[in-house]
Amino acid sequence: MTSGIDLQRAATADICRTRDDWSFHVTSDPLTRFLRDRRMYMALQMLRVRGLLDPAGQSVLIVCGGVGGEGIFLSRQGFTDVTVSDLSEEALTVCRTLEPKLRTMPLNAENMAEIPDSSYDVVLVQDGLHHLPRPVLGFTEMLRVARRAVVVIEPHDGLVGRLIGTEWERQGDVVNYVFRWNRSLLNQATRSYLLCKQAVVLPRRVWDHNLVVGKMARRFPERWRPTVAKTIYQALRPVNRLGNMMVAVVVKSDGNPARRSER
Ligand SMILES: C[S@@+](CC[C@H](N)C(=O)[O-])C[C@H]1O[C@@H](n2cnc3c(N)ncnc32)[C@H](O)[C@@H]1O
Repeated sequence: MTSGIDLQRAATADICRTRDDWSFHVTSDPLTRFLRDRRMYMALQMLRVRGLLDPAGQSVLIVCGGVGGEGIFLSRQGFTDVTVSDLSEEALTVCRTLEPKLRTMPLNAENMAEIPDSSYDVVLVQDGLHHLPRPVLGFTEMLRVARRAVVVIEPHDGLVGRLIGTEWERQGDVVNYVFRWNRSLLNQATRSYLLCKQAVVLPRRVWDHNLVVGKMARRFPERWRPTVAKTIYQALRPVNRLGNMMVAVVVKSDGNPARRSER
C-alpha cells in the first residue's frame, strides 16, 4: 500500500512542477492580503494577549509550511528567526525563491526525531495537519518541539462542515481525508501528551470561506473589495461559534517560572 505520506509528497511535488505563479503569497493587493493573512493575524493576537508574542526574540518553526506563505507573513511581521518545514523539497525550493531570508528544513510532521524537545519558542501549522495520515501525532510532535506555544489553524468539526464541507480532498489520483478538530479533541490530545494539568488550550472557532468571500468581493470596484470582505466576515461574527475553522493556541509554558505548569 502506498502510504498517505508518499501520496502527499508526490502531490506537492506535482503542484510545484506545474504551477508557476505563487505571487499570491507575496502580493500587496489588499483583498488578497486580507483574505490570506486574516487567520494568521488572529493567531498573533491570541499570542499577544497571553504575553507570548515577541517577534524579535522568538524562534518559530512552521510545520507543513508548503512554499512559505506563513513564513513570509511572519517575516513581514518582524520575526527574524523563522524556519519553514515541509515534506516536500520542491515546495521548500519555491519558498527560498520567494523569500531568501527564510530558513527551510525538510521534515515529516509526524516524525521530527531530528529536532530535540523544546527547540523552538513557537511551532505553527496552518492547513497542514489534515494532510497527515495521523494528525494527532503531528500535533503532539509540535508540542514536543515547542518551548512555549503551539498554534494550530485547521478545520473545525461541526454540523455545517459535515453538511457542506469537503470530506475527501482529491487532487488527481491523490486523496486526502479532511480531519476536523474541536475543543475536546485538542484538549485531550494536549493533556494526554504533556501530562500537565495547567497547559492552556485556547481554541477559537471562526468562519473561513475565502473562495466564496473573495468571489463576492471581486464583484465590487477594486477599492471597495477589502471593505466588502471585512464586512462579510464581520457579519458572520455573531455565529462564529458555528464556524468551520479553528485558530488555536496551546500554551506549553508562559515563560514565567512562578506560573510554570506542573506535571
Ligand atoms: C495545503 S498545503 C498548506 C501549505 C501552507 N501551510 C499554506 O497554507 O500555504 C499542505 C502542505 O502539507 C505538506 N505535507 C503533507 N504531508 C506532510 C507531512 N507528513 N509532513 C510535512 N508536510 C506535509 C504538503 O507537502 C503541503 O505543502
